[in-house]
Amino acid sequence: MSLFKIDQEKCKRDGICARECPTKIIDFTEDRFPTPVKNAEEYCLNCGHCVAVCPHGALTFNNMLIDEYPLVQKDLLPNSETIKQFLTSRRSIRNYQKQAVNHELLAELIDLGRFAPTGSNKQQVHWKVFEDSSKTHSLASLVIDWARIMAKKIPDEVAAKRMERLVSSWEDGVDRIFHGAPHIILTHAPSNLPSVPSDCVIALTYLELYAYSKGLGTCWAGYLTSAANSYAPLTKALGLPEGHKCYGAIMLGYPQFKYHRIPNRNAPLVSWS
Ligand SMILES: Cc1cc2nc3c(=O)[nH]c(=O)nc-3n(C[C@H](O)[C@H](O)[C@H](O)COP(=O)(O)O)c2cc1C
Repeated sequence: MSLFKIDQEKCKRDGICARECPTKIIDFTEDRFPTPVKNAEEYCLNCGHCVAVCPHGALTFNNMLIDEYPLVQKDLLPNSETIKQFLTSRRSIRNYQKQAVNHELLAELIDLGRFAPTGSNKQQVHWKVFEDSSKTHSLASLVIDWARIMAKKIPDEVAAKRMERLVSSWEDGVDRIFHGAPHIILTHAPSNLPSVPSDCVIALTYLELYAYSKGLGTCWAGYLTSAANSYAPLTKALGLPEGHKCYGAIMLGYPQFKYHRIPNRNAPLVSWS
């Protein structure tokens, strides 16, 4: 069976599908319709670009109906000013309401993460959601156990002091690991795949931004990520599959406070050549 089919009534032989195909598996010359190259299946990324880019709806890919590719609703796309305001006004949130985020909304966030780019379209980002706030709290407690060990182990005095401060805050009843957020979402993947560290971070970034658009607050959980793959009791509690590593985590919930201004940031560290 052919990897894709061309509706010869609809195809205008403009060759856009062939030009946009990332792995060049579409053979095209103006005097005939596009066809898959030899062994196309072997090289195809299954990215669906050939179908999505065709202005005439002339391609069917892997027997998927064209209706499975929703039209881009151009009237819903934000303009660059709106996007800039959105991106610059996102903040890391460190005070959360106790209210849980409902399961459907958490699932919607994860679903959106599917649309983040992945190296070679491998789509190997796995998600783990800690929905129950008591489980989130016990993870924080394990990160504190790790911080206690690190405070004695790290040669860098400033970093060690930072760990000590995290621990003493915790002992005073202040959670500086997850800031009282009810949920943790982490990404993990088989560690033998080359692009998964980036894939996981990009997917979480998509999720974080979408969460902000939904009125939620998030903050990257860097201490959890640092401890996740190195502190055995935490690794066990996370329960990731064999051969997987954690490549990023965020805390999430409803924010207690809203930000009214955008703090400044350093000039970009850029070199032009
Ligand atoms: C990879 C990464 C790890 C982070 N880890 C933590 C963390 O463990 N705890 C925390 O409170 N903030 C953490 N942050 C949030 C940063 O401190 C925050 O992004 C930075 O201060 C800038 O603030 P903004 O996100 O509001 O612009 C982390 C951010 C990143 C990107």
